[in-house]
Amino acid sequence: MAQVVRISEIAKFEGREVTLQGWLYNKRSSGKLWFLLVRDGSEIIQCVVFKNDVSAETFQAAEKLTQESSLRITGTVSADKRSPLGFELQVREIEIIQIAIDYPISKKEHGIDFLMDHRHLWLRSRKQHAILRIRHQIIHAAREFFDDRDFILVDSPIFTPNAAEGTTTLFETDYFGSSAYLTQSGQLYAEAGAMAFGRVYCFGPTFRAEKSKTRRHLTEFWMIEPEVAFFDLQDDMQLAEEFVSHLVQSTLKNRQKELETLERDLTKLANIKAPFPKIHYREAVEILKKNGSNFMEGDDFGAPDETIISEQFDRPVIVHHYPAAVKAFYMKRDSRQPEYALAMDMLAPEGYGEIIGGSQREDDYDTLLKRIRENGLSEEAFRWYLDLRKYGSVPHSGFGLGIERTVAWIAGINHVRETIPYPRTMQRLYP
Ligand code: 4AD
Ligand code: MG
Repeated sequence: MAQVVRISEIAKFEGREVTLQGWLYNKRSSGKLWFLLVRDGSEIIQCVVFKNDVSAETFQAAEKLTQESSLRITGTVSADKRSPLGFELQVREIEIIQIAIDYPISKKEHGIDFLMDHRHLWLRSRKQHAILRIRHQIIHAAREFFDDRDFILVDSPIFTPNAAEGTTTLFETDYFGSSAYLTQSGQLYAEAGAMAFGRVYCFGPTFRAEKSKTRRHLTEFWMIEPEVAFFDLQDDMQLAEEFVSHLVQSTLKNRQKELETLERDLTKLANIKAPFPKIHYREAVEILKKNGSNFMEGDDFGAPDETIISEQFDRPVIVHHYPAAVKAFYMKRDSRQPEYALAMDMLAPEGYGEIIGGSQREDDYDTLLKRIRENGLSEEAFRWYLDLRKYGSVPHSGFGLGIERTVAWIAGINHVRETIPYPRTMQRLYP
């Protein structure tokens, strides 16, 4: 064995002998040569085994290796202009760790159900690998954005005594003889955090018993939710557009190779810079009417409506002032047009739909209590939340960005199920 290195740092070792540890991705032979594609999780490299340069055992090992067999491979790093990596390995020695027999995912086309049943293995393929690296980048950029602006991470609990986003999509679970609900949003606790720290965010999994089988809905998805004391709706929209610009630009800068693997149109992403267009709900309704939709004013937008609206713009569009009747109980209403909530949604371009939902929060104790009662929610479970309006209540706002929909849009992936390692939907709990 020589010095063990990761393929991603191979450029530093040109001309030297190194050992790589990984798995066989693919191979082909031409007489006295084996070309092995070896992956180690960081990259894929071509390794050339020339019969005259290696022992008989090593040449046999190259013959024996099957797709996804594990190995250590030692050789000299040489520049190779034609390969995507720019380097290949001239092999001296191969150590087989385990021979994989009948790896189920071959190079031929498989159906989506088959691939999803083998999700634990499918993660090794080039495309899935690229998507999850982009997801990692987006999460990294999201944390970086808030950390750089002096936000404090204050995470919300997952077991909760109350609903945050309506009672129809609640997952209920037994909690030592009483009921607990899996959180639908960390927001309400983030509001308490904002009163303690001024500006906070929470980031974690959220759960909704979505009975819809669309390409945008999961039952378990990750949400990042900033909440800021003394922010009004305008401040909130500005924070959201700067945030999303940062996510896109950071991914373009740091994950260009992965975006190219996915054949993403990079020119569309290059445009995504704040400020974004901001339109009143009524303007969005006008757009729908002009485009022949039979949308009923007063409703919330469905996926086809969102697509029509977002197609008018070359970057995400923020729709604000939704009818209060279709929005959550905690949203403050506009005192000058009280039928509208101080709400905003951000719709991604290219038909990817809503990626952000946010609002200015109701900060008046009596009004909030009234809304809790009107919505048939438990006053008892919300006592702590009402406390926030009793002790130093201030105007405040925040939003939640769904990670999976954001990854789908930035990576250009049609369905959210490929943007999370193990998707959970109405029909899928395995693996
Ligand atoms: O619009 P939503 O329901 O907003 C809230 O939960 C607020 N409490 C957030 C806040 O103000 N702090 O959800 C926010 C985002 C959506 O825009 C969408 O991106 C994502 O969460 N989302 C889902 N993603 C995947 N599957 C689902 N079933 C989703 N439901 C919402
Ligand atoms: Mg929403």
